[in-house]
Amino acid sequence: MAQRIQGTEDLFGGYMRAWQHMQDVARELFGAYGFDMIETPAIEQVDTFVHGIGESTDVVRKEMFRVVSGALFQNLLEAGSEQGLKAKQRMAMRPEGTAGVVRAAVEHNFVPQGAAPAKLWYAEAMFRGERPQKGRLRQFHQVGVEWLGAPDAAADAECIIMLMEFYKRLGFDPAKLRLSINSMGDAACRPAYREKVRAFILDHADEMCEDCLERAEINPLRSFDCKNDHCREVMAAAPLATDNLCDECAEHYAKVKQYLDAAGVAYVEDPTLVRGLDYYTRTVFEVEALEGGVGAIGGGGRFDGLMELEGGKPTPGIGFAVGFERIALALAAQGGTLETPEPTCVYVACAGSEQRDAVFSATLALREAGIRTEADYQGRSLKSQFKQADKLGARLCVVLGSDEVAAGVATLRDMETHEQVQVPIAELAREVSARIG
Ligand code: HAM
Repeated sequence: MAQRIQGTEDLFGGYMRAWQHMQDVARELFGAYGFDMIETPAIEQVDTFVHGIGESTDVVRKEMFRVVSGALFQNLLEAGSEQGLKAKQRMAMRPEGTAGVVRAAVEHNFVPQGAAPAKLWYAEAMFRGERPQKGRLRQFHQVGVEWLGAPDAAADAECIIMLMEFYKRLGFDPAKLRLSINSMGDAACRPAYREKVRAFILDHADEMCEDCLERAEINPLRSFDCKNDHCREVMAAAPLATDNLCDECAEHYAKVKQYLDAAGVAYVEDPTLVRGLDYYTRTVFEVEALEGGVGAIGGGGRFDGLMELEGGKPTPGIGFAVGFERIALALAAQGGTLETPEPTCVYVACAGSEQRDAVFSATLALREAGIRTEADYQGRSLKSQFKQADKLGARLCVVLGSDEVAAGVATLRDMETHEQVQVPIAELAREVSARIG
């Protein structure tokens, strides 16, 4: 039997409705904040991700799925390396949405000089070659936003406020979520801070793991997130980002917190929060659900240098993304659900083969009126049609027998109360609409 790849999921039934519900909530809430939807391709040039996410990140080095056409794959096998490939032949499945949206913003000039900011949201599948486990998939779904061209700290605060409102509207109890925030500085103050952390790791080289020693050279801040408990204990004494901010970054961070306080959004400051993607500058944030044990259910931050890294004009940016699968798990752990009820339907039952044409017309008329309508396509008996209607959760059954068809009427049977009334066929759609609301 063919099987799906480990770490991927089929979305159908209630789970699919849950994903659609999440998008509906996003559309309404993000729309009120002025965001429009965007969809970028699932594959991009490798460079788009390398430039933005960072060559030294785990996402780029270990997790990005690389894509080649069948013909190129053959060449690669023969050549034994990708040396001969042109940049545009080196492709990858998107591991996240920000780099692609920013690439699109550069390509289509979404934020011309002096123009209003671009505000975009997306709901897309992402791909990361991680070891599959609960809440950690190789193909997962994110809803995310990117706000380009807004340097003001109010944009950071509004993004976070909108994110927390999103969780609330999805059914989370805000008291069971933890929002952590930090500022990672900018091009003016981060290089010196990075150097301080590198020196700290090297000073403690005999206590740190091999990975951290490698990180010291390529990405020292990632050592704050080392999976090794002892490394994390050592890093607890490392210099903190918030103690090393330049005046502008410190002021920006203070303003973000002031706006969050004014809006009554609860947060904890975590000066070791560094996030796994290199493009962040200044504000970063992450949200964890206290129940469910699925890790972060969302995260984001400011990326003021990313547009330039992707070849555009200097343009600030801020955004976040949340993971659908983790949210579904975390919400279930709180006793909630993202699932919406199955849509109501109406079943048109056929008493005998002579009435089949009448059923066909009635079914079309009901569907034309926007009513979800089912009928029998297997020549079942009337009794088993009623059974099927029950199974489908039909609220009403329209019964067409020879007497009804001759009299130009239909019998409407309420599947709960079993009450029956007759209505003229010409009035059927209006009657059914009125009854199922
Ligand atoms: P991220 O923190 O890498 O950020 O991912 C955001 C969310 O996606 C996570 O909090 C988690 O809920 C979900 N997620 C990540 N990896 C997996 C996985 N393997 N399986 C299931 N869910 C996962 C970003 O992706 C940034 N692009 C967010 C952003 C937008 N920053 C600025 N703008």
